[in-house]
Amino acid sequence: MPSMIQLRHVVKIFGDEPRGEALNMLKAGYSKDEIQEHTGHVVGVDDADFDVEAGEIFVVMGLSGSGKSTLIRCVNRLVEPTAGEVIVDGIDVTALEPRQLQEFRRNKTGMVFQHFGLFPHQSVLSNVAFGLKVKGVPIDERRRTAEETLSLVGLSGYENSFPSQLSGGMQQRVGLARALASNPDILLMDEAFSALDPLIRRQMQDELLSIQAGLKERNTILFITHDLNEALRVGTRVCIMKDGAIHQIGTPEDILLRPGTDYVAEFVQDVDQGRVLLIASVSEPATAVESSASVAAALDAMARSGSKVVHVVDSGARPIGIVTQHEARAAQTQGTQDLDSLIQQTPNVTNDMILAKVYQLCEKGLPLSVVDTNGALVGSVRPLEILAELGRVESISERLELAKSQAATEGDN
Ligand SMILES: Nc1ncnc2c1ncn2[C@@H]1O[C@H](COP(=O)(O)OP(=O)(O)OP(=O)(O)O)[C@@H](O)[C@H]1O
Ligand SMILES: [Mg+2]
Repeated sequence: MPSMIQLRHVVKIFGDEPRGEALNMLKAGYSKDEIQEHTGHVVGVDDADFDVEAGEIFVVMGLSGSGKSTLIRCVNRLVEPTAGEVIVDGIDVTALEPRQLQEFRRNKTGMVFQHFGLFPHQSVLSNVAFGLKVKGVPIDERRRTAEETLSLVGLSGYENSFPSQLSGGMQQRVGLARALASNPDILLMDEAFSALDPLIRRQMQDELLSIQAGLKERNTILFITHDLNEALRVGTRVCIMKDGAIHQIGTPEDILLRPGTDYVAEFVQDVDQGRVLLIASVSEPATAVESSASVAAALDAMARSGSKVVHVVDSGARPIGIVTQHEARAAQTQGTQDLDSLIQQTPNVTNDMILAKVYQLCEKGLPLSVVDTNGALVGSVRPLEILAELGRVESISERLELAKSQAATEGDN
């Protein structure tokens, strides 16, 4: 596959004289801390040198301050690199004059921010059409494109709403739609989903993946996160940064099975122990009806959401149990409208529970009710999802063990 983004020895040093002693010290191998202590300059990015292929979701991961935002901003020169070259689709971005740079940003890149960055006094439609307006696209066309893009992110019908009337997840969708509307070659997403609660966040990840899968020409996406779960879920490849330097770039599997440095191995350790996989990562929106509802109403609710079960809750939204579509249909055929007799009990879990600890609860094969701290229903988890996730982790750990023992044997020879 052709490279969409090429970074050639990109360095960013913050300070008054970035190209002076600080750069020399960096080249001589001094650490970020040493350079800061000695020169007062801060190393943002230390020799980033890699290609991002067209159509991939390239995830940049690392702790706070590791240089993720600085790196991504070097790509569209929101941050001016101190040294090195950035080439996007054959264009040497580092050499562009201000005017050309503006054109480049408009036509080639889209950015999705952590805190949505929407215009509060403009409608959803205007927000999404904004980039097209700047590009000088005629009004009819930009309206049509904005509507299409809103439908792509599942927000048809909200064109005339204002951002404040939408939930966080919906606002994030608007942000995504705005970036997608101008059909940029590359999408820069800096912690775009971090402000969302876990459930919505997972939906957005799915949304992103399904949008990508549905496109003829996939966007090339630079995606920043400090959540390993998210990185492994959405990343074609994952890049791990620390102190501005890149420790490893590889497929999620590479990173897990063949950690390149001790630092990366620490992350892997987390997955190895299943510590990072929480209920939140598999929780889905629940279809729910109150216990006073009829069987027909329950069937209706399932038909609307496409779910095969409905959670039955009391008037305080607390789960009582679930009714399956199968049983509800059978009851309806027999002329029963009483939902109570069909309710099966199922355990409650919370979003912060670890999958490995709840999998026994899946024994009955029924979905679990996810509740918040007040005991109110906030989601639903299918046992298959839990087992699949655990299976994945277990098989990864198994392979990890195998890889370790092979490495040990090789070491003996
Ligand atoms: N404008 C700036 N001036 C000086 N130093 C900066 C500036 N921007 C970033 N830095 C420094 O560069 C380093 C990398 O910062 P960056 O914002 O890229 O980290 P990050 O990985 O995006 O962190 P976070 O997860 O908190 O967003 C940090 O040490 C930071 O202090
Ligand atoms: Mg950042």
